[in-house]
Amino acid sequence: MTDRRDKKPATKTPKNGARYVAARGVQDVLEKMLPLDQALSNQALFTQLETRDRGFARLIAATTLRRMGQIDQVLAPFIKKAPPTYVLAVLRTGAAQILFLGTPPHAAVSAGVALLKRSQKTARAAGMANAVLRRVSEQGQTLLAETRPLDNLPKWLRVSWEDAYGAQAARAIANAMVQDPPLDITVKSDPQGWAEKLEGELLPFGTVRRSKIGDVTALAGFDDGEWWAQDISASLPVKLAGDLKGKKVLDLCAAPGGKTMQLAAAGAIVTAIDKNEDRLARVHENLKRTKLSADVIVADVAKWRDPENKTGGGYDVVILDAPCSATGTFRRRPDVLHLKSPADVSSLMRVQEKLLLAASRHVRPGGTLIYCTCSLETREGEQQIIKFMKNRANFRLNAIVEEEMFSLSEAITPQGCVRVLPSFLQENGGMDGFFIARFTRC
Ligand SMILES: C[S@@+](CC[C@H](N)C(=O)[O-])C[C@H]1O[C@@H](n2cnc3c(N)ncnc32)[C@H](O)[C@@H]1O
Repeated sequence: MTDRRDKKPATKTPKNGARYVAARGVQDVLEKMLPLDQALSNQALFTQLETRDRGFARLIAATTLRRMGQIDQVLAPFIKKAPPTYVLAVLRTGAAQILFLGTPPHAAVSAGVALLKRSQKTARAAGMANAVLRRVSEQGQTLLAETRPLDNLPKWLRVSWEDAYGAQAARAIANAMVQDPPLDITVKSDPQGWAEKLEGELLPFGTVRRSKIGDVTALAGFDDGEWWAQDISASLPVKLAGDLKGKKVLDLCAAPGGKTMQLAAAGAIVTAIDKNEDRLARVHENLKRTKLSADVIVADVAKWRDPENKTGGGYDVVILDAPCSATGTFRRRPDVLHLKSPADVSSLMRVQEKLLLAASRHVRPGGTLIYCTCSLETREGEQQIIKFMKNRANFRLNAIVEEEMFSLSEAITPQGCVRVLPSFLQENGGMDGFFIARFTRC
């Protein structure tokens, strides 16, 4: 679906195209509750922008959403009456450029004013925006110094993380989350060689890290399918699955296929299932590009029956990367901060419980079940598996040990699961929040 507001966009003010798209994107995340990528790509103008400008639009919008608590505190003294949502989005994105992106203040101010003058409806607010953004240019850094990254968290997340990990850890997570995420790459082979070719750094577990995301498709080896983008955290579940050569592996909730590719590259015979056809198209594209293979099936994991093993138990390894609140990923997906609520976590927990029970049916006796989520909520991790073990006495936790985690042994919980916080590996640029539990079927 494209946005009718943008039917004939670019020609009038192409200079401010990226900023326009960013402001509309922020508005649509907050008002229509759209994920940021969708809020941007829905706009016809976004698709017409040069790659570099698309990147700039995304950077402005992501920074605004990630830093909104701090930005609003800086803006507050200068805004007398709540402005309409698009005007507010222009002010917030303008402030984000001045405060965090190093945009020359006069450029951010004049662009904000120009965006509002584009339409008669918003032109009246141009004078106010000029005054507000000028003040942000003059006094913003002083006001910003009185704010903290913790101010960007909605109260429920802050309370949840303080309860689960303590006040100091919650502060460290908030500090980590305001940083721009790096580009993490999983390679089919030769991580050291690819780290050199891609001018990246080699992290534990063989992930190659570049400090900036940029245009991934333009990098060496992308077209040849030698690697794919995948946060180091998301690569861990497969790395903890042991030797996969020749093993029958069921990859549940597989799209867009990061783990499917890892499994296939490790020599497993992979069946990948997801219920979302559009997202599965990405799995097919990814497998094609990387010249890897898997049997890809569209199905609801809760209902899927293995045609070859009617009573289940047909797989050596089953990985369930369950749908979750994704609160661990908010460096990469800052919209999550504004889109998710405690009620979402409650309903996702019910889904996860059902999917975990369904996944367990397919594990052969002696086989391995891995449950993981990219959530920081213990209700979707530690608490979920306690319930599972009460329901499935024939599964026991197969504790993850220090030698398996290299320099990340601080992630091992007293139960023997992995709980990654975004503040880990901070000196190298952090990592997404993640939870991993590994079971053996008795
Ligand atoms: C966290 S993502 C998976 C990421 C993927 N494993 C990877 O590594 O690239 C969760 C996926 O679960 C899928 N999903 C949600 N509910 C499902 C269900 N009941 N059956 C199958 N797939 C489901 C979603 O479509 C989504 O693609």
